[in-house]
Amino acid sequence: MSLPTRADCAARDAADPLAGMRARFELPEGSIYLDGNSLGALPKSAAARLERVLHAEWGRDLIQSWNTAGWIDLAQRIGDKIAPLVGVGPGELIVADSTSANLYKVLSAGVHIAQEVGRARGAIVSERLNFPTDLYIADSVAKAHGLALDLVERDAIASRLERGDVSVLMLTHVDYRTGQVHDMARTTRAAHAAGALMVWDLAHSAGALPVHLRGDGSREEAADFAVGCGYKYLNGGPGAPAFVWAHPRHTARMDEEGWRQPLSGWLGHVAPFAFTPHYLPARGIQRFVCGTPPILAMAALECGVDVFAEAQAHGGLDAIRAKSIALGDLFIALVEARCAGHGLTVASPRDGRERGSQASLRHADGGYAVVQALIARGVIGDFRAPDILRFGFTPLYTRFVDVWDAVEQLRDVMASGEWRADRFHRRQAVT
Ligand SMILES: Cc1ncc(COP(=O)(O)O)c(C=O)c1O
Repeated sequence: MSLPTRADCAARDAADPLAGMRARFELPEGSIYLDGNSLGALPKSAAARLERVLHAEWGRDLIQSWNTAGWIDLAQRIGDKIAPLVGVGPGELIVADSTSANLYKVLSAGVHIAQEVGRARGAIVSERLNFPTDLYIADSVAKAHGLALDLVERDAIASRLERGDVSVLMLTHVDYRTGQVHDMARTTRAAHAAGALMVWDLAHSAGALPVHLRGDGSREEAADFAVGCGYKYLNGGPGAPAFVWAHPRHTARMDEEGWRQPLSGWLGHVAPFAFTPHYLPARGIQRFVCGTPPILAMAALECGVDVFAEAQAHGGLDAIRAKSIALGDLFIALVEARCAGHGLTVASPRDGRERGSQASLRHADGGYAVVQALIARGVIGDFRAPDILRFGFTPLYTRFVDVWDAVEQLRDVMASGEWRADRFHRRQAVT
């Protein structure tokens, strides 16, 4: 296959069914944003919405807005909009807190259920290279319950399950460093066959690719719990609230038992405005709410999530996935052809079906500096220690020409040795 030219990329953009969605985002002139996997771009609708929330709902209507502007229902309303993006039904998923906090709640639920079925001393198992917050939170939950946290390599997960003592398998669906995707259905089936519960972190999945938490609908293939992030592909803004999902078979049982999650705040109570001294959990997924939701942040998140409803008319998540794979394939092909001989290697799967919406490169000693040199040229990616240069593709606003231009900038940075300058090696707090 001959290498595409910039004109070929422009032609692909002209034929792209999602091309019009880019106009829904505010994107800075003169830069190429390839970090929507870390912080999604600003939906243009958010400015007017926040203006309204600030001045009409907060400024003018003040406390009444909990009722009159529907603030009290916002977490469930947005949850119902995220639900189809991850393959679950209305009322099953809710927006609350951070991904980390939600993980604490669902891992605790998983351990509780495992204890009920007689696996009181089973381990929580995860991947050694999972995102650190997942490992830290799992460690806390394991310690709180006197369990082991067992971290294994990706290719040892199946054999670890076969030992038969796993309570909960907790994995991130799309690896944050390499973008490698777990086969959700197959892994969930393997966990269940081994008597373990399956918890998925969808931080790099929700809004990036179709997710089917309910699998084929069978007990074997439907996951047990999931958490995910609002500020990445859902474009909810910096620090946007996260989401949490529990399979209805679990929430139904929790309803019967009156099981309470460990962060039992008043808005997860069955009747918060009864102000009773004793905690009685709300029914269903509402029990996973802790305290008062951040309404400004919720309003921004809803704007980000609403863009997906609009994208539905242009092919929705299937079109997003197809374009995401095409953008990633293009990036990898161009990097290999145009940047050869400069010590960069591809860290992501070459098969687009096994890759999330990012492509990562490795560089033995210059990864951080190369990313900084690119940022100075207006190409925004990020760096993940120890050696990963990460480039995210957000099909709602990333164009094929952006990929082409970004790789040309990378080629210049490498060929000129520009990245070797001292200023690009000074580490900032956020990489
Ligand atoms: C896999 C994964 N989980 C969780 C998080 C973040 O969790 P929180 O929003 O609680 O900081 C990230 C952030 O990048 C992530 O990549």
